[in-house]
Amino acid sequence: MENFEYYTPTQVVFGKKSEEQVGGLIKETGCKKVLIHYGSGSVKKTGLLDRIISSLKEEGVSYVTLGGVVPNPRLSLVYEGIELCKKEKVDFILAVGGGSVIDSAKAIGYGVANEGDVWDFYEKTRTPNACLPIGVVLTISAAGSEMSNSSVITNEKGWLKRGCNSNYCRAKFAILNPELTMTLPEYQTMCGCVDIMMHTMERYFTKVTPMELTDKIAEDLIGVVMKNAKILLEDPKNYEARAEIMWAGSLSHNGLTGCGTEGGDWASHQLEHELGGMFDVAHGAGLAAIWGSWARYVVDEDPKRFAQFARNVMKCTNTGDDKADAMEGIREMETFYASIHMPISIGELGIEPTQAQYRELAEKCSFFGKRTIGVVKKLTKEDIYQIYKNAQ
Ligand code: NZQ
Ligand code: ZN
Repeated sequence: MENFEYYTPTQVVFGKKSEEQVGGLIKETGCKKVLIHYGSGSVKKTGLLDRIISSLKEEGVSYVTLGGVVPNPRLSLVYEGIELCKKEKVDFILAVGGGSVIDSAKAIGYGVANEGDVWDFYEKTRTPNACLPIGVVLTISAAGSEMSNSSVITNEKGWLKRGCNSNYCRAKFAILNPELTMTLPEYQTMCGCVDIMMHTMERYFTKVTPMELTDKIAEDLIGVVMKNAKILLEDPKNYEARAEIMWAGSLSHNGLTGCGTEGGDWASHQLEHELGGMFDVAHGAGLAAIWGSWARYVVDEDPKRFAQFARNVMKCTNTGDDKADAMEGIREMETFYASIHMPISIGELGIEPTQAQYRELAEKCSFFGKRTIGVVKKLTKEDIYQIYKNAQ
């Protein structure tokens, strides 16, 4: 077992009607003024925003609002949010939405609490020293940003999607009411399920000697998400299935499934982030489209690990032949993704990058040849290009 730190400072308030507690939770922090940050309209349509505002008013908490966050959240709105917060003397940000809204809130929080251009933190030329406190009312189980140390923003200049990780941005509280996810279209629910699975799979596939307890938590978490994704296909209003998936989403990305395994691979995420930045695809769908190609490209580095995944997660028969079982596991994973109506190729994402765009994706993903990605196999710009092409 590798040495590790496990830091999860976020207070989780889980269950039906839990959003009613939001005003009280914010009041407890002693903050003076809140920015309520939200997306492109679902929270207005469902009436959630009104309920949040009522709860704040009841507790005498003053607020301003800023909507308009889009999936693959944009830097320009982050700048707007920073200006607004400074002007209004905001000292707490409440994100009401999914990963995109939470990540935008975190970026605004960095921008207010630190000098200079917030994009520097995403380009990794500087590191943040603080962040405004963040609270979350989650409306989609997916990115895990409600408990993660991460924020991912897209800069419209060059369409670069980049992440910034630090403990400063960890949410003070996360309100998780599975009922709030019942208004999601099937596609978004399934994108979310893929993302949750992938946050654990990224940590599962590492070079490091595995850890029994973490492996078992990881394998079961993925299995529970698969089972409940299937239930939601038939019965989208099933509370128990929504609840299992919501809790899995937070645990999948708060570090638990990586304890003692030294970080994880994360190549599939890096590959997807470029697709999201350039082609604005939904994050979970992009991951499903690329994973099989990545897995086949790297499987020879560690067939034993892939075979364990095949047998314990995909329930493939143990033939005693690691490589054959590993390949069967990859096929089965893709079959599962297809069964929940997720794409398993870039073409199925509904985009057709040109040859030059495939090269551009590889350039951007490798930071123009300056970095490799992945741990199972360190992938160079040329490897990255091949994985994109094989996923075509
Ligand atoms: O904007 P609205 O109108 O709210 O619509 C959203 C959006 O179109 C809709 N939606 C959300 N909750 C809904 C709803 N529609 C109806 N009913 C509801 N209850 O769903 C769409 C997707 O929302 P989004 O926030 O983009 O989804 P997700 O949570 O998947 O977030 C994706 C973003 O998170 C990043 C991704 O790269 C992507 O930019 N990630 C962030 C991570 C982190 N910070 O730790 C880790 C992840 O790996 C990921 O990279
Ligand atoms: Zn993800």
